[in-house]
Amino acid sequence: LAGSFGDGALAGLRVLVSAGPTYEDIDPVRFIGNRSSGRMGFAVAEAAASAGAQVTLVAGPVSLPSPAGIARRLDVRSAAQMREAVLGAAASADIYIGAAAVGDYRPAQVASRKLKKRDGAPLVLDLAENPDILKDLAAASPHAFLVGFAAETHDVAAYAQDKLARKGLDMIAANRVGEGLGFEADDNALSLYWPGGGEELPRASKRALAARLIARVAERYRMARS
Ligand code: CTP
Ligand code: CA
Repeated sequence: LAGSFGDGALAGLRVLVSAGPTYEDIDPVRFIGNRSSGRMGFAVAEAAASAGAQVTLVAGPVSLPSPAGIARRLDVRSAAQMREAVLGAAASADIYIGAAAVGDYRPAQVASRKLKKRDGAPLVLDLAENPDILKDLAAASPHAFLVGFAAETHDVAAYAQDKLARKGLDMIAANRVGEGLGFEADDNALSLYWPGGGEELPRASKRALAARLIARVAERYRMARS
């Protein structure tokens, strides 16, 4: 039965995936968002389910149907809501894959009424930094195998390897955004890094990349736990 524990590389494991952007409200009609479509994260959730995992997907605001075979989908909007949903599901997760493009900042105040123009005077928004969900999850669930994503426009390898170490991750999947890849594109290319190793996954569909990522996650997970 799809969605239950089955045969496959992740059989018997519970996988928590975050996907999509977050929207940080400015006022009742406006928000700060980013260009993540959620497609890479949804493909990862589907690949994990077809590898036999019981998958919980925490999705930011996206317009995508639920991936085949997942056990549960939690829809959220803001980084704060995503954090709450992820941490709420974390205790029972063996593996967390943070594919979401979490907004780094939110308006310090959310206006309860629509902001009006002010005769040409510039508008200045005060932004507060959002908590780092991956970091909080690492503290709350030290047993979980942690996979981060990093979308970079430049110096991909250096930034990704720095995040791997700084966030205490077991693996990071880095991609260069732009050039017809990454956000809003059908294709992607990923560079995987883990402590002491890595693998290049050349340009392919997000679905094919997700399957290769999941195969490598399963292998590294078994290695770390054996
Ligand atoms: N992440 C998170 N919570 C945040 C920001 C990021 O959990 N508030 C996670 C992302 O889901 C991703 C990883 O951290 O798996 C790396 O995200 P990224 O934006 O590349 O890293 P940052 O630490 O936010 O650094 P920067 O945006 O400055 O490059
Ligand atoms: Ca960020």
